[in-house]
Amino acid sequence: MHLPNYVDARRRENNDYKRVEFKFDDKIRNKYLGKTYFLKTYGCQMNEHDSENIDALLIELGFSKVDDYEDADLVLLNTCSIRENAHNKAFGMLGRLKHLKEKKHNLIIGLCGCMAQEASVVEDILNKYKYVNFVFGTHNLYQLPQILDSAISSLRQEIEVFSKEGDLVEGLPVVRANSYKAYVNIIYGCNKFCTYCIVPYTRGKERSRAKEDILKEVDELINSGYKEITLLGQNVNAYGKDLYSDYNLGNLLEDIAKKDIPRIRFMTSHPWDFTDEMVSVIGKYKNIMPSVHLPVQSGSNRILKLMGRRYTKESYLELFNKIKSSVPNVAISTDIIVGFPGETENDFLETLDLAQKCKYDNAFTFIFSPREGTPACKLKDDVTITEKEERLQRLNEIVNKYFLFNNKKLEGKVVSVLVEGLSEKNDMYFGYTDTNKLINFTVNRDVKIGDIVDVRVTSAKTWSLDGELVG
Ligand code: 5AD
Ligand code: SF4
Repeated sequence: MHLPNYVDARRRENNDYKRVEFKFDDKIRNKYLGKTYFLKTYGCQMNEHDSENIDALLIELGFSKVDDYEDADLVLLNTCSIRENAHNKAFGMLGRLKHLKEKKHNLIIGLCGCMAQEASVVEDILNKYKYVNFVFGTHNLYQLPQILDSAISSLRQEIEVFSKEGDLVEGLPVVRANSYKAYVNIIYGCNKFCTYCIVPYTRGKERSRAKEDILKEVDELINSGYKEITLLGQNVNAYGKDLYSDYNLGNLLEDIAKKDIPRIRFMTSHPWDFTDEMVSVIGKYKNIMPSVHLPVQSGSNRILKLMGRRYTKESYLELFNKIKSSVPNVAISTDIIVGFPGETENDFLETLDLAQKCKYDNAFTFIFSPREGTPACKLKDDVTITEKEERLQRLNEIVNKYFLFNNKKLEGKVVSVLVEGLSEKNDMYFGYTDTNKLINFTVNRDVKIGDIVDVRVTSAKTWSLDGELVG
């Protein structure tokens, strides 16, 4: 048994990890043929992509996937720690699984992902959720086959969570959820330690994948007909810092853009690591999508300092304007937290002012959620929850107004759309524009899912566009 702790998780040491090639243990391949599994994924794209590896590992063990947890022999929850409600959802699901296990004694239950890296969660599982059969963390996903096999054979609770990263594992099998859009990890972990955030503890230090491994994966995706790749990382703009002195996200984007792939996206970008060179590469290549997610978190310099964000409202705006002027038709989205401990009405008004200046194309807005073990959790917080909810609502009114404002500007214009599917009523197709806006559109000829087509925008709504196929 290995249990996690934040003291080790906080440590950032030199590059003491190795690149190792994954090998599936042939002794257990197909051992569970005939058994079924249900995998529930919470949280961000990183978790979604990890779940694509988990699917592949379970399938190699012989399991087949079902869509209803009540039909499964194995239920695995890939969890998220970012805010309390993500926690609550996973614990709520564990409660439902307890009832199911009372009727179905052989049910195997597992928990992995970010919550597994939290000492308090693992302690609860050991003491109160004894019916959970196994737990593994974000650093040892590749050990899932062995951990699951040993939980099933020993009938003991298997808890294997490492606080520190260990090796960087390449060559994990993957079953991609989509046949034309793919996620590609470029950097794991985060070294920023924003004071509210649990990610640096649950995902470890920044570790970049070797550029050769990334470019090889991109080539394989292109050969398999993929149209869009999204480069993933907690902070993609730190790519390469730990590995190279002269190769960064700008170089990687440029190397990928020269390949025959129509759409390249990347997320998430920390404003601190955004260089002029990266901005100019994004503006230079047509296949790098004009869409940048640039979390600001707050418009108050006092709060930004308390958050440990390393920039000011002014320097953020400078970067924002640089991206706007260098990347034609760029859409910029953001994340904003309201109700950080001690946030005053004046601090909040600074955030509203920034939202008004930036007129974001999209914004994810949150109420601060204290995460145990982070510095912000210990700060005195005298803002009431009613005030926080009211601030969130005031902020949402403003950001929503600008979503519609930006969408309206597209009316009558022709946009490029990657076709994703048919609407529920089967009368329209839907897809995403290059600027990552959802669009529903009518067609007058056959289109295929995965095609990139031109669509004229006929009307704009707050969260989507309507249009008609051109040509
Ligand atoms: N409380 C509220 N929101 C948070 N985020 C991260 N940590 C917290 C927290 N403790 C938000 C940030 C981040 C996004 C992924 O989640 O805005 O950019
Ligand atoms: Fe969390 Fe900040 Fe790292 Fe983003 S940059 S994952 S908010 S610590």
